[in-house]
Amino acid sequence: MSTPRLALLGAGNLASAIVCGLLARKVCAPADLACTSRAGTTAQKLAADTGITFEPDLPKLLAGADTVIVAFKPQSLAAADPRLAELTAGKLVVSVLAGKKLARLAQVFPRARNLVRAMPNTPAAIGAGMTCWCSSAPLAPADRATVGKLLGALGQFMELGEEHMDAVTTLVGSTPAFLFEFVAALRDGGVAAGLPRDTAQQLALESVLGAARLLAGSPETPEALRDRVTSPNGTTAAGLQVMAAAQFRETIKATILAGTRRAGELSND
Ligand SMILES: NC(=O)c1ccc[n+]([C@@H]2O[C@H](COP(=O)([O-])OP(=O)(O)OC[C@H]3O[C@@H](n4cnc5c(N)ncnc54)[C@H](OP(=O)(O)O)[C@@H]3O)[C@@H](O)[C@H]2O)c1
Repeated sequence: MSTPRLALLGAGNLASAIVCGLLARKVCAPADLACTSRAGTTAQKLAADTGITFEPDLPKLLAGADTVIVAFKPQSLAAADPRLAELTAGKLVVSVLAGKKLARLAQVFPRARNLVRAMPNTPAAIGAGMTCWCSSAPLAPADRATVGKLLGALGQFMELGEEHMDAVTTLVGSTPAFLFEFVAALRDGGVAAGLPRDTAQQLALESVLGAARLLAGSPETPEALRDRVTSPNGTTAAGLQVMAAAQFRETIKATILAGTRRAGELSND
């Protein structure tokens, strides 16, 4: 199946990750992609770096495009060019704007043939992202394939109902930050146990990476793998007892619920 021509509104971090992923996987040729940005600087740079087209003229940018990727900041949506309503008529519009609901997107792109709301996370920048998506109406097979190619450029992806997007915003969007905090805490623990700071950070990071890979490649639950590392009365058991006494699971649950609540508040703005 040939790749539809894609237009990108916004050419920052996430748009660059999409373009680089699509080109690296040879899903698209540079000639299939065109971009614009508010001031033009980021779009010109993305075009110069990747060979895609920089097209500042909105009607020209969108005339040749079948699919439009909306990748500017969520706060820019309110000031989006009103011509977009007509210029996106009949096109597939894919938004990565955090917290912007399909109903809100439909006000800006009322004549799109379908609307997709996608929520990626920052590992998308290295093709290791997790993206959840939902759409206004069930996607036609060709559009589903396009969405798969686009989001596949960022890593893994999963379709979920829009009612889950607030939870996804936290579990997918914020988990990188939660993990960075966890690695920092492991490092600080190592330092308290007498290790040099750099060594402790490297050991914490490599252990987290290796354990995550082990889990990803295993059919077993995290709990089963945990139990395999835990001998009765051993060092891991001693550590896990402290985690349980400090209500680690309850704390993480409260963390996810707090983020989900906040995502709900923000997506109603
Ligand atoms: N980065 C991530 O991993 C990540 C994860 C989840 C969701 N997202 C979502 O991805 C979107 C982009 O994030 P980012 O990190 O890529 O932002 P960014 O690096 O700040 O880039 C924003 C881009 O949007 C352009 N822009 C602003 N207003 C515009 C307009 N009216 N029309 C066209 N382009 C416009 C900017 O152009 P100028 O430079 O010319 O101003 C810039 O190219 C956000 O909505 C965010 O919620 C990002």
